[in-house]
Amino acid sequence: MSEITNDRASSPVFTGPSSLGETAPAVELRHVSKSYERTTRALDQIDLRIGVGEFVAVTGPSGCGKSTMLHLIAALDVPTSGSVLIDGRDLTSWRDLSRYRREHVGLVFQLHNLLASQTLLANVEVVMFGTEASVHERRARARDLLAQVDLAGRERRRPTQLSGGERQRVAIARALANHPTLLLADEPTGSLDSVSAGHVLNLFNAVHATGVTIILVTHDLTIAAAAERVIHMRDGAVVADVPTTAPN
Ligand SMILES: Nc1ncnc2c1ncn2[C@@H]1O[C@H](COP(=O)(O)OP(=O)(O)OP(=O)(O)O)[C@@H](O)[C@H]1O
Ligand SMILES: [Mg+2]
Repeated sequence: MSEITNDRASSPVFTGPSSLGETAPAVELRHVSKSYERTTRALDQIDLRIGVGEFVAVTGPSGCGKSTMLHLIAALDVPTSGSVLIDGRDLTSWRDLSRYRREHVGLVFQLHNLLASQTLLANVEVVMFGTEASVHERRARARDLLAQVDLAGRERRRPTQLSGGERQRVAIARALANHPTLLLADEPTGSLDSVSAGHVLNLFNAVHATGVTIILVTHDLTIAAAAERVIHMRDGAVVADVPTTAPN
């Protein structure tokens, strides 16, 4: 596995005011509830703090609110009540949430939404549109990232010509393209065999080593054990929050 690099990992990314100063957690949920259609309470008064550079797994039965929580942290949805703070700043105070997502968050979902008709290179480049990177820089970074996930030489292939694990690695390369400080992954190994899942996990460990905060949702307790801390959810609430013995 090539070395994962993240130029921004070591430098302060947020320059705005922080209510908690330098010790602000990367992610904080304060009394967060989320209801859908008045009947379903997907999240119920969640309080959670995740430190900068932590690698956290979130696990729990289907429907317990894991994806909902990731969506709120990614600012893809808003809480019904309570607040989500990123580096001490309430997301509602961010002027440009699409910029927050593009510049600070890397998203890896199980249905990774790669563009089937486009090359791997184009799939990684696309998320850098709208950033200050030039065409040349975007191309170079996409090549570099694909090499980091061991897909060098296959840049011109299409996602349909790859295995599930390889596609997941493209999705991870894409998620890292804009140097995120926060990597959110929803069941990234769900459809993979154990060898491919292990490869993807190695990649997460390498990203974690660069200082990126990672929240990894998984049903699989073996995968969860790779994190430093496992948050167990049930019925929209955190029922356990335990450190692991992972060698991080
Ligand atoms: N857009 C939506 N509209 C209505 N209800 C929703 C919506 N999204 C999620 N829910 C409901 O909210 C609850 C939590 O869903 P969520 O997707 O967060 O669960 P999950 O823990 O990710 O489950 P899984 O492990 O199956 O992915 C479920 O009862 C689900 O049916
Ligand atoms: Mg889910």
